[in-house]
Amino acid sequence: MSSGDIEDVLRIEKASFHKPWTRAMFEGEIKNPVSFAYTLRVRAGGKEELAAYIVFWIVHGEAHILNIAVSPALRGRGVASKLLSLMLQVMKRNMVYEVFLEVRVSNEAAKSLYRKFGFREAFVRKNYYGDEDAIVMVLDL
Ligand SMILES: CC(C)(COP(=O)(O)OP(=O)(O)OC[C@H]1O[C@@H](n2cnc3c(N)ncnc32)[C@H](O)[C@@H]1OP(=O)(O)O)[C@@H](O)C(=O)NCCC(=O)NCCS
Repeated sequence: MSSGDIEDVLRIEKASFHKPWTRAMFEGEIKNPVSFAYTLRVRAGGKEELAAYIVFWIVHGEAHILNIAVSPALRGRGVASKLLSLMLQVMKRNMVYEVFLEVRVSNEAAKSLYRKFGFREAFVRKNYYGDEDAIVMVLDL
């Protein structure tokens, strides 16, 4: 992800989350030395577009996925699966042995995506989102 992508990223972000990240938050991640921010582009209807993005940190062999979203019009076609499988390879190359993330208890699509990749539901963080609990999901690489 580069600064030039953020306009498209914000459009997807606002359509995806109750409390979307701001431009400053994405800019901060691009500059953060422990942060990895990637986009996935697809060719649709003869033109290329930014379809999805992910932001994760790697610290001491642990990866923490902070954000992942797919453009609403392109969901259900394997885009998140493609992005996640590529990123797990990036993590392995960076000596990651454990990946974790938080997901809203009600977010069935995301929980199902992560389960497909072998993530297990480790524990609940009560009221993590202010209006809902989070499930912490973990994958041993
Ligand atoms: C969650 C999200 C990233 C999935 O992206 P996607 O590109 O549609 O996912 P894929 O097409 O790769 O689907 C992968 C798996 O996710 C699950 N899944 C995807 N959409 C689903 C839905 N609507 N309901 C239930 N499971 C779903 C399925 O297990 C699917 O596997 P399958 O195709 O073998 O059945 C997307 O719905 C999204 O951007 N949601 C809003 C942002 C968000 O919630 N991010 C996660 C925060 S923790």
